[in-house]
Amino acid sequence: MTILISVGGLSKTFTLHTQGGAEIAVFDDISLEVRAGECVCLHGPSGAGKSTLLRSLYANYKPDAGHVVVQHGGDSIDLVSAEPWEVVEVRRRTIGYVSQFLRVIPRVATTDIVTEPAIAIGIPADEAHAKAKALLARLNIPKRLWSLAPATFSGGEQQRVNIARGFMVNYPVLLLDEPTASLDAANRQSVVELINEAKARGAAIVGIFHDEEVRDAVADRLFKVGQSVRKSQRNMTAAEPVA
Ligand SMILES: Nc1ncnc2c1ncn2[C@@H]1O[C@H](COP(=O)(O)OP(=O)(O)OP(=O)(O)O)[C@@H](O)[C@H]1O
Ligand SMILES: [Mg+2]
Repeated sequence: MTILISVGGLSKTFTLHTQGGAEIAVFDDISLEVRAGECVCLHGPSGAGKSTLLRSLYANYKPDAGHVVVQHGGDSIDLVSAEPWEVVEVRRRTIGYVSQFLRVIPRVATTDIVTEPAIAIGIPADEAHAKAKALLARLNIPKRLWSLAPATFSGGEQQRVNIARGFMVNYPVLLLDEPTASLDAANRQSVVELINEAKARGAAIVGIFHDEEVRDAVADRLFKVGQSVRKSQRNMTAAEPVA
């Protein structure tokens, strides 16, 4: 199967300029390839760098070294060195990202938030609205909420609006940061079905799933994040007898 996203030598250290320049080394020399139709689950303890890696794949964070090459409309684009306009285009058409929390402009209706990514790539409004309604219904968002802004929605309702928005466009690549964290069993099942449908149409998915049942239902393989520390420790140990 085609490799849709290819990561190599990726390293990220945060420098906290407002806190005496403290440095937090998150990961080092990560390599990962994700193929069409495959779901890779990032795992590792809290603080290991899973969300940081996912955000780096979406070009939200700029890594210090390495590449994130994505297949975008027949071209290979390295998001680490891409121009801002290229990143915008890749996000519009190729990579969808469901963050853990919904961040939206106040006073915009749920249906408009959900349809927006489809309208942005030229899908006719009636088609986009039909799809949005179908997704909101599958995710059990009560109809009476569809015309309201989600600011006052419950955590789980907001997360489901976020998921509906993320699945509006049939993106070739999907990044999911704990999409089921605040959902009940029935809604988790709806999300599992959406993910498996996306895989079946050939999407390459990178996700973080705390829920073991969800992980077992969608993941083809696990990718451990946070190996960098252990790796450097291993290197130190290996180097000792030589030194
Ligand atoms: N914007 C940032 N600025 C500085 N440090 C950050 C930033 N984002 C994350 N970090 C640090 O990077 C490390 C990894 O954080 P990250 O959120 O990627 O972990 P995670 O594996 O997703 O954890 P969790 O399972 O708790 O969500 C943490 O030590 C965190 O403090
Ligand atoms: Mg996280």
